[in-house]
Amino acid sequence: MSFYEDHIFPPVMEWATKGFRRQIAALIAQAQGRVLEIGAGIGANLGYYSPAVEEIVGIEPVEAMLEKARRMADSASHGIPVRLTAGDARDLPFADAEFDTVVACLVFCTIPQPEKAAQEAFRVLKPGGKLVFFEHVASPHRTTRAVQNRLNPLWRKVACGCEINRDTRRLFEQAGFVYDSIDDFIHPKVPALVAPIITGIATRP
Ligand SMILES: C[S@@+](CC[C@H](N)C(=O)[O-])C[C@H]1O[C@@H](n2cnc3c(N)ncnc32)[C@H](O)[C@@H]1O
Repeated sequence: MSFYEDHIFPPVMEWATKGFRRQIAALIAQAQGRVLEIGAGIGANLGYYSPAVEEIVGIEPVEAMLEKARRMADSASHGIPVRLTAGDARDLPFADAEFDTVVACLVFCTIPQPEKAAQEAFRVLKPGGKLVFFEHVASPHRTTRAVQNRLNPLWRKVACGCEINRDTRRLFEQAGFVYDSIDDFIHPKVPALVAPIITGIATRP
């Protein structure tokens, strides 16, 4: 990883995603049992888990982010055991059906070959387990979508692999998930290119 990816991008990302956190907190409060958070980043979500969670396992490929998450894990998670480990969501180091909940928060925009990560999330969930997600996606509006498509190559470079034009709703369906609830909206407090959001809960049948 470069100096930019390790030290410049993480605080920028923290600042840029501030507008999302209130809704993310409400969503993550619905996680329960053994939880896997993929792409846990600097651990920004660790404080949002409820006492219905037995253990939080977080995986994150960027060592500098992982270190930051580790430093605040115990104080942030109000007593819920946290295990943070280096890992790639496309090849999860866990057995089938290990988790009750998988949390994916602003991460399917960045994972290369995101279909593999969706299949892995499906695999490690117990039947009946829940995928809890909050993702920025391709715009439903033609003009914004065209701008997203045009700017995506540049955006990907500046934002460490993040893509602004993914159809993550379809990706989850193709992996076999069935939606319990999905809210599809334009976030009013963030730049237009990352404002189209999908959030909700899907089940591994
Ligand atoms: C926009 S950040 C979001 C971090 C965190 N989920 C949050 O809500 O603050 C995207 C995260 O996805 C991680 N990521 C990128 N590729 C990944 C992969 N293949 N597997 C798991 N995480 C990945 C990045 O390192 C980064 O931490």
